[in-house]
Amino acid sequence: MSRKPSVFITGASGEIGHALIARLAADDPERPIVTLDLNPLPPESAAKVRQAITGSILDTALLDGILAQYEVDRVYHLAALLSTRSEFTPALAHKVNVEGALNVLEFAQKQGESHGRPVLFFYPSSIAAFGLPNREVKARAGKVKEDDFNVPTTIYGANKLYCEHLGRYYARHYKQLAAETMSGKVDFRCIRFPGLISAETVPSGGTSDYAPEMIHAAASGQRYECFVRPDTQIPFMAMPDAVDAIVRLMTAPRERLTRTVYNIGAFAPSAAEIEAVVRSAFPHADIRTKVDEKRQGIVDSWPADVDDSAARADWGHAPSYDFATAFGEYLIPSIRKRYANR
Ligand code: SER
Repeated sequence: MSRKPSVFITGASGEIGHALIARLAADDPERPIVTLDLNPLPPESAAKVRQAITGSILDTALLDGILAQYEVDRVYHLAALLSTRSEFTPALAHKVNVEGALNVLEFAQKQGESHGRPVLFFYPSSIAAFGLPNREVKARAGKVKEDDFNVPTTIYGANKLYCEHLGRYYARHYKQLAAETMSGKVDFRCIRFPGLISAETVPSGGTSDYAPEMIHAAASGQRYECFVRPDTQIPFMAMPDAVDAIVRLMTAPRERLTRTVYNIGAFAPSAAEIEAVVRSAFPHADIRTKVDEKRQGIVDSWPADVDDSAARADWGHAPSYDFATAFGEYLIPSIRKRYANR
C-alpha cells in the first residue's frame, strides 16, 4: 500500500519501458513506480520499481486493485501490439491497443477524481498513424506535419490514431453533458515516435525493426536479411533521446502545450545508409536484402521524415544524437560491448 504519489507504467517489459524505468528511477528515486506487463520485468528493471505486476491491461479487476492500493498521478501507457504483429490478428490488436488504452484512461480518470489532481498521462503514438498513398506522394511530402495524411493503412496505425483522439476526449470533453465538469482529470500528452533504436534491447513485432535488427545481427555475428529496399526511408531515433523527449514533454508546463499530439524526429536515413554505417563498424557483417513486398508496403506508407517544429517550440524537443553520433557514439559502442560480454 502506498499513498505517496506514484508512477504507473504499462508495457513496462518492452523496449521503451526498459529505458524509461532506468531514467525515472534515476531522476526521482523517492517516487514509487508500479509496473504492469504480461511478461515479468527483467531483473535490472525490477530492482528499480516498488511493485512489478504480471498481468493484462484488459483485466479491469486488476486495474481496480492497483487503483485502490496506490495514489497514481503519472501514467505511462506503453503496452501495445506493434504494427507487424497486429496485422496478423487485427481483432486482438484492437482489443489490446484500443480497449486496453480505454481501460488505462478510465483508470487515470478515476485516480484523478479520487485525489483531485489531474493525472499526467503519457501515450506513445507512432509514425504509423500516417498513411501516404504511394511512393511519389511520400517523396514529395518530405517532412510531414501532425495533421496531414492521417489515413493509416495498418490496424496498429488506426488504433494509435484513434487512441490519440480518445486521450484528447478524456482530457477536454469527457462526459461533456454531465451536470458537473468531469474532464481535465487526465492531462493527456502524446508523442508520435519515429522508429526507435536501442542498444540494450531488440524490438519485436514492429515494421521499423529492420534498422535495429540489422545492427544487432551484425554485432552478434548473425546473418541478416533486410526486408525493405535500400532506398526505403523513414525517421528514426536513438532510445535515450526518446526517453528524454518523454521526460521533457511530461515536465513541460501545461500552458506551454498547444497540441495533445506531437511529432518528433532526429534523423531519417535510408536502409542503404544504415547498412553502410553498420558495415563500416562490422566489416564481416553478412547483410542481404530480401524484400518482403507486404511489409515494404507498410513502410512505404509511412513518412520519409516528420516536421517536429511544434515539439521543439512548445517543450524544447532537442535530440542529442544525429545519424552519425547515434551510431558512432551510442549504438555501435554499446552494442559491441553487449555482445562481447556474452
Ligand atoms: N516502430 C513501430 C512499429 O514498427 C511503430 O510504432 O510497429
